[in-house]
Amino acid sequence: MEVNVPKHVAIIMDGNGRWAERRGLKRTYGHKKGAEVLKKIAKYAFDKGIKVLSVYAFSTENWNRSEEEVNFLMDLFLKHFNKSFEELKKNDIKIIFSGLKEKLNKDVINAMDKVTNETKNNKSGIFNICLNYGGKDEIVYATKNICNDVLNKKIDINDINKNLFNKYLFNELPDIDLLIRTSNEYRISNFMLWQIAYSEMYFTEVLWPDFNKIELDKALKEYKNRDRRFGKIKSK
Ligand code: FPP
Repeated sequence: MEVNVPKHVAIIMDGNGRWAERRGLKRTYGHKKGAEVLKKIAKYAFDKGIKVLSVYAFSTENWNRSEEEVNFLMDLFLKHFNKSFEELKKNDIKIIFSGLKEKLNKDVINAMDKVTNETKNNKSGIFNICLNYGGKDEIVYATKNICNDVLNKKIDINDINKNLFNKYLFNELPDIDLLIRTSNEYRISNFMLWQIAYSEMYFTEVLWPDFNKIELDKALKEYKNRDRRFGKIKSK
């Protein structure tokens, strides 16, 4: 087993549209290729020893895209949730979703519930797909549920701390060790704001549909060489 592999890796899979446009294709071709790449990268990431992989599949802001693109993405999710994750399921990976289910269509919700249910006892890794996800929404969601539990006397206000807050998020996950964003954009875009508090950031010019095992290896190699100090003094 390799040393110093990040436990939780998160990816902002950006650049699908540009990848397609540069080839004179419709943007949706980029998403189609992007989903195929994700399938391969997820398998590879878990094989490398990564325990949790979170990916940004659809943000709350993505509803502002054309109806054609949004519908295409929803159909693509449906297709992949129903069919593509057989190998991950076999490899004991639990598949979960983060985000608000409201606004998603029934077929997509059913497919999400089905795959979550089928993999709920898997233990070797967690594949967290962020869909209709916003980092600020997640913090508001947790806060509301904590307030409810305080009001209903299930917890005491003095019980609230970072550890408890983490349990009230869409899913209780470890902090992100490494955040990767493709396509030469240097933004967080409202992604997993709570969980990235101490993560290392890796940005690459590669567009998501061109991302591959070699590119993931480069990110992991760079991570290995980072000096993670968590506020401590640099070690000599
Ligand atoms: C950002 O690229 C990408 C998205 C909004 C969609 C990401 C979705 C996938 C990669 C498919 C995931 C599939 C499954 C099954 C979870 P962009 O369109 O903003 O690219 P641009 O910045 O070049 O326009």
